[in-house]
Amino acid sequence: MLDIITYPNKILRKKTKNVKDFSNNEFQSFISEMSQTMLEKDGLGLAANQVNKDIRICIINFKDGPQAIINPKILWKSFFKRSVMEEGCLSFPKIFGLVRRPKIIIIRYKNKQGKTKWLKAKGLLATVIQHEIDHLNGILFIDKIFKYTKGEKKIKLLKKEAKLDEL
Ligand code: CO
Repeated sequence: MLDIITYPNKILRKKTKNVKDFSNNEFQSFISEMSQTMLEKDGLGLAANQVNKDIRICIINFKDGPQAIINPKILWKSFFKRSVMEEGCLSFPKIFGLVRRPKIIIIRYKNKQGKTKWLKAKGLLATVIQHEIDHLNGILFIDKIFKYTKGEKKIKLLKKEAKLDEL
């Protein structure tokens, strides 16, 4: 299993790089290790920078199992239809909060074989995918929480730590 990086580690703020080589074995085994890690940690998704790799891969826990979403791009999002969900993150243990996001999105990405795919997602799946794509851009759910439901005191301390880290 891979170690999960927790906030305020700086790699979580890094914009990750596109994957170019889909053929090497190391890449394929990294994807299965990420999937295993996400399942063992009961996550709905996991981004590569959460396991210390600054590349544009995230694993999404679909109904029929984990799938890699590589070099994703959001092509369209519903501007007026939005949903509010309580989100958590494996990089922020015991912290939860409400986030408002577009309810429907259309993305383009590559699967682990390097094939281009399109996907329309709504509801929880759309929220999970947006949370993970944010990770790949160095954006964290704490940037978007409008109300904490758990761990508000803890996050205040962690944010202070992050600021001290920047000095
Ligand atoms: Co997360």
